[in-house]
Amino acid sequence: MIEETLDFAPLDELLDRAKAEKMGLIPVLQQTQEIYGYLPAEVLQRIAKRLSLSPSQVLGVASFYAQFHRHPRGRHIIQQCDGTACHVRGAKNIITAVQDQLGIAAGHTTPDMKVTYEVVYCLGSCALAPVAIIDGNVVGRLSDARMTELVNELP
Ligand code: FES
Repeated sequence: MIEETLDFAPLDELLDRAKAEKMGLIPVLQQTQEIYGYLPAEVLQRIAKRLSLSPSQVLGVASFYAQFHRHPRGRHIIQQCDGTACHVRGAKNIITAVQDQLGIAAGHTTPDMKVTYEVVYCLGSCALAPVAIIDGNVVGRLSDARMTELVNELP
C-alpha cells in the first residue's frame, strides 16, 4: 500500500506553519498535494486532526474542487478538451485513439503510472481546437494521428 510508505514529516511541518499563520484549508490542501502529488486518505485524516476540523469537512473540500486529486496520478498528465469547439473539430476521435493506445478509459491512469488521461471541457484556447494540455503545455490543432505520436514520444 502506498499509504504505508508516506513520510508525514513535510506534512507536519506544513501543518505547524498553517496553524501559526492561520492558513485556510484550501491552501493547506494545495500545498499538501504539492508534497504528495495527490491527497491520500490518511493525509486528509491527519490534516483534520491537526487543524481541529472534522474529517468530513476536509474530505468535502478535497472532493468538491477539481484541482484536488484523491488518487495517485501518472508521471505524465494529458488533459484532452472535449468542449464544443474541440468536439466539432474531432476531439472524440482523438479521445478514442488515445484510449485505445493507452488501454484505459479517460479519467484513469495506466497501470505503470506513466500517464493519467483526462477529458476536460474548454481550456480557453478554442481558436486552436482541438486542444490538449500535455504536462502543462498547450498543444493545438491536434489530430488523432498527431496525438498518438505525442503520446508515443512521452519518456
Ligand atoms: S472548447 Fe476546447 S479549448 Fe475551448
